[in-house]
Amino acid sequence: MMRLEQTVHVTFRYAIHFTRDIFGPNNRLLLDIMSGRQLRAAVFLDGGLEQARPGLPAEIQDWFAAHRDRFELCALESLPGGETCKTEPEHYQRVVQVLRDSGLDRQSYVIMVGGGAVLDAVAFAASLVRRGPRQIRVPTTVLAQSDSGTGLRTGLNLPAGKDFLGTFAPPWAVVNDFNFLRTLPRRDRIAGVAPAFQVAILKDPAFLSFLTAKAAALREGDDSATEQMIMRSAELHAAQVRQSDPFEAGTARPLDFGHWSAHALETLTGYQLRHGEALAAGIALDLMIARNRGLLGPEQHKAIMRAMTAAGLPLWHLALHCRAEDGTLRIQQGLVEQGRQTGDAPALVMPDGSGDCRPICDVSAEEVECAVKQLEIYWASLADEPEQQSLPPATPAISGYAKV
Ligand SMILES: NC(=O)c1ccc[n+]([C@@H]2O[C@H](COP(=O)([O-])OP(=O)(O)OC[C@H]3O[C@@H](n4cnc5c(N)ncnc54)[C@H](O)[C@@H]3O)[C@@H](O)[C@H]2O)c1
Repeated sequence: MMRLEQTVHVTFRYAIHFTRDIFGPNNRLLLDIMSGRQLRAAVFLDGGLEQARPGLPAEIQDWFAAHRDRFELCALESLPGGETCKTEPEHYQRVVQVLRDSGLDRQSYVIMVGGGAVLDAVAFAASLVRRGPRQIRVPTTVLAQSDSGTGLRTGLNLPAGKDFLGTFAPPWAVVNDFNFLRTLPRRDRIAGVAPAFQVAILKDPAFLSFLTAKAAALREGDDSATEQMIMRSAELHAAQVRQSDPFEAGTARPLDFGHWSAHALETLTGYQLRHGEALAAGIALDLMIARNRGLLGPEQHKAIMRAMTAAGLPLWHLALHCRAEDGTLRIQQGLVEQGRQTGDAPALVMPDGSGDCRPICDVSAEEVECAVKQLEIYWASLADEPEQQSLPPATPAISGYAKV
């Protein structure tokens, strides 16, 4: 009878800032970001960060007290850090309740300060409340500053899978404050290097050369190398979101490189692995597939694997061997999930050896089996090399997962 056609154009614009001491008395960045007067704000803190920096809540209260003519701090809440925050539903429910009780409206600000997991959970909850007040993300880990904090995704884990619940919620602004990294444990600093390798392998040969040259410095937590890496990685990840498919309507998403098996590994190990550690093993597996297909030459492949190893990233985990009752590798479920996510046959994105990438839609179970075997042999062979012997011991989660 009747048909109405609609085309809706929406532009989101937000800046990713790099600074130090965001809540310091002399730092005016937040004043510039939060436009308007008499605005209300709620702040959510990562509990792990707060434990490492107990004075932080007082710093935040002092900052709001100094600017009480413009802002009202309606809530300052702490949430458990790490995957707990994304996996136990009471935490995102608490965020919803705090936002309701604080009377925040769409012009109000939700400021989230923490690692990628806390940001994912708070951003998810905030995106649901009144369809989303303004979100200011303040990532406090290497991984979140160089990758997860910069994009549009939010996420919660369900038994059905990692990030099974999620929304797209463009932030109002992102603030990367390098001073937060001072308290970050070494394990998390190293794990945070993985997304930089991921995007460098796919998109930027010059950045890959930088990471290769600075691998040892990154492993040792050198501030200058880490900050340079974060800035370029954030730039490349943000460009990827902006230029390709921000709301991920297509089937092949470049930043899924290494992720399909990484997500499966995280679930299989009950989140004992840091996301960056699982991603490193996932990248190594995809690199092996790319090499077997001739997309990467043997020398190119070896150079990347060596650089990732020199940066301290674990490229193998025993859970890669884990099998389902029908005998298939359980990480294969990651491929199935990847297809469900996009509503199509699983399409993996692989480096093509020229500093760019391409989608591949026909990765078989046999190919994955073969790559897993090769990766195990490769990782074992590295143990004989002097470079590998000088690495710090594997993290407890990795060496202690022999039960699988
Ligand atoms: N939304 C996205 O686009 C996106 C992209 C990539 C990854 N992610 C998600 O990010 C999460 C991983 O994030 P992560 O690597 O930041 O780890 P994380 O959030 O799990 O944090 C790791 C640990 O560091 C603690 N911590 C955080 N900041 C600290 C600091 N400055 N000092 C001391 N301790 C601190 C946390 O409490 C936690 O115990 C995963 O859940 C992953 O799925 C999301």
